[in-house]
Amino acid sequence: MGIITIDGPAGSGKSTISKLVAKELGLSFLDTGAMYRALTLIAMNEGLDLEDSAKIKELFDKTELKFIPKDDTTLVEINGVDCSDLIRSQRVTANVRFIASSPLLRASLVELQRQFAKEQGSIVTEGRDQGTVVFPDAQVKIYLNADVDQRAIRRFKELQARGEKCDLQEIKDAIIARDFSDENREVGSLKKADDAIEIDTSAMSIEDVVSVILQIVRE
Ligand code: DC
Repeated sequence: MGIITIDGPAGSGKSTISKLVAKELGLSFLDTGAMYRALTLIAMNEGLDLEDSAKIKELFDKTELKFIPKDDTTLVEINGVDCSDLIRSQRVTANVRFIASSPLLRASLVELQRQFAKEQGSIVTEGRDQGTVVFPDAQVKIYLNADVDQRAIRRFKELQARGEKCDLQEIKDAIIARDFSDENREVGSLKKADDAIEIDTSAMSIEDVVSVILQIVRE
């Protein structure tokens, strides 16, 4: 089958949809956002300066990181401790831009992502730069988008379901700020690959988006 990339901004539905597409096709799934989040948490836990990429890389090289697919999520273990919820907390989300804008740290994570694809052969991978930088020769490239209000509501419900205290306007402001840093960093920025197919998910159900993507893959 090959590689299917699904890129797009925060809250566009990437994670949920990519997992369902992977399940339908019987392929492995890669949540690259979880990698950037895990590295952010590792650095925060050690109290490192989040702009000191060299120090963070040193720590990353000594850390045992595991990404375990489970039901509709990816469990993340750091040195044997399950940190799946913590990496998706608002505290980590607010700081992930430091790691995401470091060329040194991106290079390490991109290497891990390509290694995973090599081991698995065929995968569905989601992130910001999967179709542009990491897998420019992917067989199918999808770019998911949705209007910002819709994306904020989705994130709000997700955080509420996890029991995290949150405010809709604050989440919307954080999404706008994250869009800005995702689109404007110098390496691995968020943009649609020229050969990606764009789907606006604002008014679509999850099932509809999945079935459109499956149709594209089969064609
Ligand atoms: O998809 P997510 O919200 O879990 O991603 C968290 C952050 O990680 C996102 O704001 C930017 C960064 N990221 C990235 O720079 N490149 C990727 N391929 C995936 C995520």
